[in-house]
Amino acid sequence: MITVRAPGKLFIAGEYAVVEPGNPSVLVAVDRFVRVELTPSVGKGSIHSEQYGRQPLVWYRDARGIVLDHDMRPVDYILSSIETVEQYVSERAIAPRFYDLSVSSELDDVSGRKFGLGSSAAVTVATINALNQFYDLQLTPRQRYKLAMLATIAVSPHASGGDLAASTFGGWIAYSAPDRIQVLRLREARGVAGAMDADWDGFSVRRLTPPSELQLIVGWTGEPASTSRLVDDLRDRRWAEEIRYSDFLEQSRHDVEGLIASLDADDAEGVKRAIKGARRTLSQLDAAAKVGIETPALARLSDTAEAIGAAGKSSGAGGGDCGVVLASHDADLSGLLREWERSDIRHLALAVHPSEGGL
Ligand code: PMV
Repeated sequence: MITVRAPGKLFIAGEYAVVEPGNPSVLVAVDRFVRVELTPSVGKGSIHSEQYGRQPLVWYRDARGIVLDHDMRPVDYILSSIETVEQYVSERAIAPRFYDLSVSSELDDVSGRKFGLGSSAAVTVATINALNQFYDLQLTPRQRYKLAMLATIAVSPHASGGDLAASTFGGWIAYSAPDRIQVLRLREARGVAGAMDADWDGFSVRRLTPPSELQLIVGWTGEPASTSRLVDDLRDRRWAEEIRYSDFLEQSRHDVEGLIASLDADDAEGVKRAIKGARRTLSQLDAAAKVGIETPALARLSDTAEAIGAAGKSSGAGGGDCGVVLASHDADLSGLLREWERSDIRHLALAVHPSEGGL
């Protein structure tokens, strides 16, 4: 049996702008995981995951490739990961085999509500890591990220893939997304292996040094957010707001480049300034687009951070889920934590998942 895990993530800055190819963002991997166990099987494969309830999803192969043994095809990252790796395996003339996958996640609370720590990305990365071992593909982290990206955009063409990069590479990273239309076309024209070998316009990933004088504090609002709903709403509205949208992209680039420069210089005040700037930039975007990025709970989470000289903002699409705070190691957090408790914001004790190497 093969057991692998992939970490969850938090966006620190650059959300929404990162959806456009080449726009920078900063993310961090956290020490909660999705685990995948792979057991070799014969004649058919299966996927056991809480998202399918008690019944596993059973698959086999025919001339069309992977098929499910029932009619409903879920919109699914695990299946897309399997299909993408299987296509790669067949392009490399490796004999296909069968396997049972069992998926479990620490990225939900006990009642199954998602924390918003990138569970779809972590399950994609973990599935690819398990198959990398099973077929002994010896893929580098960069190749695994590319496979994960190919699998993800087959399901969700607008996804930036920042969460995949954080989950694959670990630690703090600066990330900008590839042009997904180009990547989808590359897969169509050259297959999965050909697309992986090509350079992807806009894509870049770089390791960042964590700020030595600051700690990361994470609050969970308990409000479920739908990233795809928020991103689609913004996409619909931005055509009417084209000029402000380009201002937003420029302002976001300014904030994120400031953040990266401050991290490179280990300048704690600069980091906090950039995060406050990123919060304001998202608020201005939302004031124009009105998609509901900073909910009242997220506003409270960030205001209480600013009141103690720290910096806080929503993480990811907003609309609920988590917010991040960067505060000095010696900051007195008692008032902040009391205020969070009063506002039903749960403090998630998360540590940064260290770099996996490969960058
Ligand atoms: O809500 P999350 O944590 O999945 O992050 C979404 C971030 C966006 O920039 C809004 C979308 C994306 O694909 O990067």
